[in-house]
Amino acid sequence: DPVRFGPAGLVVAVDGPGGSGKSTVSREIARQLGLRYLDTGAMYRAVTQVALERRIDIEDPAAVAEISERTVLTVGTDPDAPTIAADGVNVEEQIRTRAVTNAVSAVAAVPAVRERLVAQQREIIAESLAAGGIVVEGRDIGSVVAPDAPVKVFLTASTEVRALRRSRQLGEKGVDDVARTLAELGRRDALDSSRTVDPLSVPEGAIVLDSSALSVTEVVEEVMRRSEHLLAATS
Ligand code: DC
Repeated sequence: DPVRFGPAGLVVAVDGPGGSGKSTVSREIARQLGLRYLDTGAMYRAVTQVALERRIDIEDPAAVAEISERTVLTVGTDPDAPTIAADGVNVEEQIRTRAVTNAVSAVAAVPAVRERLVAQQREIIAESLAAGGIVVEGRDIGSVVAPDAPVKVFLTASTEVRALRRSRQLGEKGVDDVARTLAELGRRDALDSSRTVDPLSVPEGAIVLDSSALSVTEVVEEVMRRSEHLLAATS
């Protein structure tokens, strides 16, 4: 069941497409409010990394589900140094490769994978409440994982801006690279938004922000300003 939130801990749900600035903004909000931080995308990426390494057919939902069931993910929630390990092996670098990025949508579309990861995400959220709370970023946090979160943010940006950010993250410089990243991003957006289980959507009550022309500081300030009354009510 979704975790219930009392005055004991705050949950901030941050959703949006890839390259919208979710990670940077989420970590900064966590730092400023003294909260933990959970990157749920990293969990879907870690399962994908294990599946690729085991040479599983990524388009075979049953095989992918089995990998997910057998893999133990360990997630560290320090906003200054988030960590993720699969069966005790640190996979932080591998999960950011192009191979994983291009395969992760297929993995994230498997219902059994989502069920398992959502359950673990709720456990992590519940454990964090005693420590003040947590900022959770993903695609279905405000809608499915933590629908009772007092603060919900939906971050967007134009496709071009998101592709540029992704490209820069990957250390790319050429125009061809950006064009390729733009095409891949479009493909992933379409998959993430059209899948039948928990597609990317704007949750009810979310603060919707377009970060195309805003700096990280401006986005964080705007979130703080627009959630001031909610933050006061929960502390
Ligand atoms: O945010 P990201 O790029 O690291 O996410 C990787 C993939 O995982 C993305 O294609 C969508 C999926 N995802 C999801 O389905 N649900 C989440 N809560 C987080 C990510």
